[in-house]
Amino acid sequence: MSDVPVRVGAPAARWAEGESARFRVTLDGVQRDAFAVRWHGAVHAFVNSCRHQSLPLDFGDGHYFDDAFDALVCCHHGARFAPDTGGAFLTALALEERDGALWCTGRRASAPPDTRTDRTPR
Ligand code: FES
Repeated sequence: MSDVPVRVGAPAARWAEGESARFRVTLDGVQRDAFAVRWHGAVHAFVNSCRHQSLPLDFGDGHYFDDAFDALVCCHHGARFAPDTGGAFLTALALEERDGALWCTGRRASAPPDTRTDRTPR
């Protein structure tokens, strides 16, 4: 079964900074809880499952950020994640705007391969 686009909410420009939304998305035929947050002017979405114990990041209240507003934090044991990428431990989801709404279209494509010719660590 393919991923099914699902409506997440209003276009990103209408979201307040820090606003969040919960939704469900089908990935590989399995319904998953997911969430989207607006951070630094862009909306990012992730499967709502912490890889530590596969629990949702929030208590169902849509609260995902730490007090400094610089990380997503799992409410259970405090794991922290980059709000724009989720790092290596959250499943990032693709969003697109169409028909006056924001839609989730499945997993976000992985980062492009590193095409640098030098191998100096960044
Ligand atoms: S379940 Fe998220 S930190 Fe433990």
